[in-house]
Amino acid sequence: MVFTLNLGTLALFVTTLVGTSARNFFSTPARGQDSSFSLEEGRMMVTYAAASYCSPDVLRNWTCERCSDSVAGFVPKTVVTDEDWDLQAVVGYSPQLSSALVIFRGTKGSSWENWIHNLMTTKSQVRHPGMPKDATVHDGFWRSWTRSNLQNRTSVALDALFEERGVLPVVVVGHSLGGALATLCAADLLTERNLTAVRLYTFGCPRVGNYAFASAMRNTTLDNTRVTHDRDIVPTVPFTHFGFHHLAREVWQRTITTGSKKHPPRLNFTMEITCDGSGEDRRCQDSLCRYVGACTSIEDHLEYLGVPLGGGKGHEC
Ligand SMILES: *[C@@H]1O[C@H](CO)[C@@H](O)[C@H](O)[C@H]1NC(C)=O
Ligand SMILES: *[C@@H]1O[C@H](CO)[C@@H](O)[C@H](O)[C@H]1NC(C)=O
Ligand SMILES: *[C@@H]1O[C@H](CO)[C@@H](O)[C@H](O)[C@H]1NC(C)=O
Ligand SMILES: *[C@@H]1O[C@H](CO)[C@@H](O)[C@H](O)[C@H]1NC(C)=O
Ligand SMILES: *[C@@H]1O[C@H](CO)[C@@H](O)[C@H](O)[C@H]1NC(C)=O
Repeated sequence: MVFTLNLGTLALFVTTLVGTSARNFFSTPARGQDSSFSLEEGRMMVTYAAASYCSPDVLRNWTCERCSDSVAGFVPKTVVTDEDWDLQAVVGYSPQLSSALVIFRGTKGSSWENWIHNLMTTKSQVRHPGMPKDATVHDGFWRSWTRSNLQNRTSVALDALFEERGVLPVVVVGHSLGGALATLCAADLLTERNLTAVRLYTFGCPRVGNYAFASAMRNTTLDNTRVTHDRDIVPTVPFTHFGFHHLAREVWQRTITTGSKKHPPRLNFTMEITCDGSGEDRRCQDSLCRYVGACTSIEDHLEYLGVPLGGGKGHEC
């Protein structure tokens, strides 16, 4: 059984149940908190991210099983695939969001371990051309974005959509590697196209660039929600000691279990903690995962807000 409570209710509950050690942690509001997280909207965004793993055929007609309920009514414009780079994105119009929507798929199921291992060891960064001189991004993400057809084709598709419907606010969504590509896409929209109404929504996003990049993004009009889940390994890489730094604002999906074998009831409570504006809030995922090897869960990476993500077995579209 999973209960979802808001933070206030939970703080009360937890302080009653487990006493003072939890009190300090849960009752202090996050620093600089200025927007509240909507679970309903988060679930819609993660459903979009989950759908992007489906095949281009069903995405073009928006007929996949994952394309229903909260995301039904989405009007796909272009499905971009790059077979060589094994990448995929969907561009279209979301009536629920009254926005253009760009969704980036993560890597395909079979190679999670390899992909994550590479992120643990690589540290090379390149200068981001649209940003201050000291702003750098991960070389691998940058190559995926610029050398595949994704940067060009998503940009062309957005132009076509704007031509059809007028210039719209843009929401960019992605899970995993898709979150990194979504971040670079959002950076382009803000710095190359000078759009101001840009929202970025990522799930299990790795660190994309350095502190100067994160600061420069924070200095724009970007509205960013970066959701992490319990001990998901992917947001812990590439490591901060190689100079990488997350974008704010994190929302940490946290599940805690009450009681013990001796002292039931054993109940799972899930909450979403809105973190501070630093990008690396030590009371959020960093509180568990700051040390290399402390968080290794791929399971937590493949489920967000109760929605399964990724391709491969058990994740059919
Ligand atoms: C609570 O979560 C744990 C870990 O995900 C799971 O093993 C357990 O079955 C859950 N318990 C309940 C009552 O849902
Ligand atoms: C998508 O729609 C077109 C036109 O209605 C149809 O011919 C095609 O079979 C559909 N494809 C899928 C995969 O549903
Ligand atoms: C995309 O590529 C085409 C063909 O190479 C080129 O003509 C066009 O200018 C490019 N568009 C963008 C936005 O990069
Ligand atoms: C965006 O703004 C910069 C700086 O003001 C300007 O040089 C550039 O031409 C603008 N780009 C577009 C696409 O409007
Ligand atoms: C933020 O923007 C201001 C005004 O455009 C600029 O002077 C400053 O250098 C920027 N800071 C960063 C970290 O990019």
